[in-house]
Parts: sequence; C-alpha cells; structure tokens
Amino acid sequence: MEKQGNSAPESQHVNYAAPTDSASGKQAPLGIFPAKKLELERLKPVAMGAHNFVFIHPDDPSLVVKVIKPAMRYENQKKLPLRRRLFRRFKHHKDFLRTVTEHIASYVKAGPRPSFLQRFYCLIETDYGLASVTKAERDKEGNFAPTLRRLLRDGKFDDKAQAALENFFEEFLKSDVIISDIHNIDNLVYSYDEEKDTSRFIVIDGLGESTLLPFCAYFKIFNRLQKLRKIKKMRKAIATTLATKPDTERS
Ligand SMILES: Nc1ncnc2c1ncn2[C@@H]1O[C@H](COP(=O)(O)OP(=O)(O)O)[C@@H](O)[C@H]1O
Ligand SMILES: [Mg+2]
Repeated sequence: MEKQGNSAPESQHVNYAAPTDSASGKQAPLGIFPAKKLELERLKPVAMGAHNFVFIHPDDPSLVVKVIKPAMRYENQKKLPLRRRLFRRFKHHKDFLRTVTEHIASYVKAGPRPSFLQRFYCLIETDYGLASVTKAERDKEGNFAPTLRRLLRDGKFDDKAQAALENFFEEFLKSDVIISDIHNIDNLVYSYDEEKDTSRFIVIDGLGESTLLPFCAYFKIFNRLQKLRKIKKMRKAIATTLATKPDTERS
C-alpha cells in the first residue's frame, strides 16, 4: 500500500561541481571565490581606516575586500591581562560579527531593506586573514565614493548632499538597524545610484552594538534615543568640519 500523510519528499540530487568551460572542457575560474586564499598582500589598499585596509577585489572591481590591519591583528595575538580578556573572544574580529548580525537583522522584516545599508556579500579567506566582501560604493564618475568628511573638506556638501543626508537621518530613525559608530563622518559615503540616477549616503562601517549588554537590540525605544543622540553628535561634527577651512582653500 502507498504511504499516506506527511512523508518527506524524495531528496533532490544537485550537481554542485564548478561549471566547466564548454570550449576547453577545463574548470571555469571560481571568480570571487578563489580555490585558495585571496592574495591581497601584493596589492595596494585603495583606502584605510583606523582598523581596516580596504582593497578593490582583484577579480571584480564592483566589490571591496576589507581586512584587519596587520598591526591590529598583532595586537590580537598578545596575551592581555585577564580583566581585558573577559568577553573578548573575537577581539578585533568582533566588527565582522556585528556587521553580519546587523545585515541578517535587516532581512527579518518584510519589505525593502533600508537604502542606506550597503550590500554585504560574504566573508572570505585572504592572506591577511578573514575579510568581508561588500559592494564598492562609487560616485557618478566611477571613482571611490567620497566620505561625508571628504565632501565637507572639499567644499562639495551642496544642497543635494544636504537633502540626501536629511533623507538618511529620516530613514535611519524609522529603521531598527543598530549603528554604533554613526557619528563618525568617515563611515558614511556619498554614493551614486545608477538605477535612480541620484546620490545617497551609505553606511560602510560601524554597524551593530558595541556595548556588552545589547540594550538597543532589546529595547527599540533605547535604540531610537541613541540614534537621536548620535544624529545630534553628527550634526555637531559636520558644523565643526565646515567651520574649518576647506582643503581647497589651504595654501
Ligand atoms: N564599500 C566601500 N565603498 C567605498 N569606500 C569604502 C567602502 N568601504 C570602505 N570604504 C572607504 O575605506 C575607508 C575605511 O573603511 P572602514 O570600513 O571605515 O575602516 P575602519 O574600520 O578602519 O574605519 C572608509 O572611510 C571609506 O573611505
Ligand atoms: Mg570606519
């Protein structure tokens, strides 16, 4: 007799082999997922922050690969006193964890993800250790997108950029994304969106909660208050940067 009820469907067999090049029969290159560690040490970083080196992906210029600076990784290896070791299992790698967590959180709600979140693709192994692969944000001319600080310094924070920043604040307040380092004006870049033919601000760093107890994740109201406080701090940082002479006027 045939089985009735909720028996599991027969498993499907899928061929996961890498695609072959039909002309040569050879295995096609794995693209952004190389079979061995991605080699970056021979390349020049396109940008660097306090913690990271940022590279254009050698096989795909639409992507950036972010690694922890070697000096930071060296710090990671040091044996710290017990009080500093507690709760620091991931040390500088914690940023990866926070970023990934926040990107996952952004998919929980139905509907579109906030437009200020950059595209996060994956974590990958490189000769600098673990790295994240994200979309390379660019300006209309195809250059690396300027940070908010660069825009202010270059005297390019025009009406359009100001309106885009206010849009960002509005959307940021409406979303429940947690960003700990948003007042840092180097963590926002002014990026060109080809589809909409307009530029908007994208957060490229500082996602997630940096405190031991995740109050922002637990209490939405706390997250909102923190956001309001950080936006205020950011406005202050913008005013201070605007008050200093633009780089173009310096002799
Ligand atoms: N996806 C990206 N697109 C364009 N520029 C980026 C991107 N990610 C990082 N950058 C540039 O690299 C700089 C440093 O990156 P960031 O992730 O902020 O490193 P850190 O954690 O060391 O501050 C940023 O200020 C920005 O100029
Ligand atoms: Mg940064």
